[in-house]
Amino acid sequence: MDFALPDEIISMQQAVREFARNEIGAVAADLDRAPRFPWETLRKMGDLGLLGMLTPPEYGGAGLDTLAYTVLLEEVAAVDAAHATIMSVTNGLPQSLLYKHGTEEQRRRYLPRLASGEWIGAFCLSEPGSGSDAVAMETRATRAVGGYVLNGTKAWITSGGEAQFYLVMAKTDRAAGARGVTCFLVEKGAAGLSFGKPEEKLGQHAAITTTVTFDDCFVPEENVLGQVGQGFLIAMAGLDGGRIGIAALAVGIARAAYEAARAYAAQRTAFGQPIHEHQAIGFRLADMAVAIESARLMTQRAAWLKDRGYRTTSEAAMAKLQASETAVAVTHGAVQVFGAYGYTKAYPVERYFRDARVTEIYEGTSEVQRMVIHRQIYRELGR
Ligand code: CAA
Repeated sequence: MDFALPDEIISMQQAVREFARNEIGAVAADLDRAPRFPWETLRKMGDLGLLGMLTPPEYGGAGLDTLAYTVLLEEVAAVDAAHATIMSVTNGLPQSLLYKHGTEEQRRRYLPRLASGEWIGAFCLSEPGSGSDAVAMETRATRAVGGYVLNGTKAWITSGGEAQFYLVMAKTDRAAGARGVTCFLVEKGAAGLSFGKPEEKLGQHAAITTTVTFDDCFVPEENVLGQVGQGFLIAMAGLDGGRIGIAALAVGIARAAYEAARAYAAQRTAFGQPIHEHQAIGFRLADMAVAIESARLMTQRAAWLKDRGYRTTSEAAMAKLQASETAVAVTHGAVQVFGAYGYTKAYPVERYFRDARVTEIYEGTSEVQRMVIHRQIYRELGR
């Protein structure tokens, strides 16, 4: 139900729905079976403005608000989560943070290439030994003449090795905890920058994920983003936006699974009637519809608040938690509605089921979202 959406968002939604079905839908299952980074479809998404949605037009972006972003991201995710993940990361983290914290020179140098989709952006926070406990990162940046030298390894980096632009958090002061992290802009091709092999994942195969290693990688002074020591706060505030994107993406996966199950349950018969007329299936579909609607409303509300300048730490975490757990439950239920067929590649629900699982893990696990929500509850009480 899009009752609250402005007309211009609804017309963009229709256009992107059509584009996603025709262009991304044509390759999604093949990319799942034989994974490769989907540059061809990404180029077309770039032409439509989908890879620079939040970046203002003066830097080559579409200049849309977060609400429109969630609606269009849902459309892409409803066809293929891997494309949506690449889209969400490049829009929601590197570009948004570069626009928010970058100098004019940094914005001019990088945003037009990212916003057009010529370049894809990646976000480097997690490490092999620190995911949820992000402050425990080991990657360090030491002062050198004219800049910093980075050493360390980042892990689970979406678009690793394919992206041309890396926003990297590294410790500039190991004794200062969260205040000892600084954010750096690193281009692919920098000496000392290398990538691991693509991870073999349960789902979202085309959203290539690798380690990113810095081995005496020099980063010039002008590629520090924001203030030295502010990198962790920049990353956390960025994730407040990024998590709204992941919530929208999870709603899209859930919707795809629900729509497939709804159609199947109308045409498959058992015990003399379409299976949706059996209460077990009918109620399951009803529960799916309620969960999706709830998750979408929470996601769109978080976006709406962000667009009005509110801090959305809690709302983003709640939306991401609700939507990702909905995606996992709905895709699980959809496989059940399809029975044995759902367990095969004859229908896409098997792919949706696998693709959904990581939404409970990346950009902060469900446990991290609960930590964030819990802390905000007591912060609001002033305790
Ligand atoms: N906005 C602004 N500032 C924030 C903030 C926010 N949302 N969250 C925390 N901060 C600030 C705090 O105010 C604090 O500042 P002060 O020093 O002034 O007090 C500082 O940051 C440290 O915060 P915490 O004390 O809360 O830090 P913590 O060590 O307890 O960790 C955490 C908090 C919420 C668990 C955090 O570590 C976290 O979110 N972990 C998960 C990280 C994550 O989501 N990783 C995903 C990586 S992205 C990805 O998945 C890659 C991809 O390609 C998809």
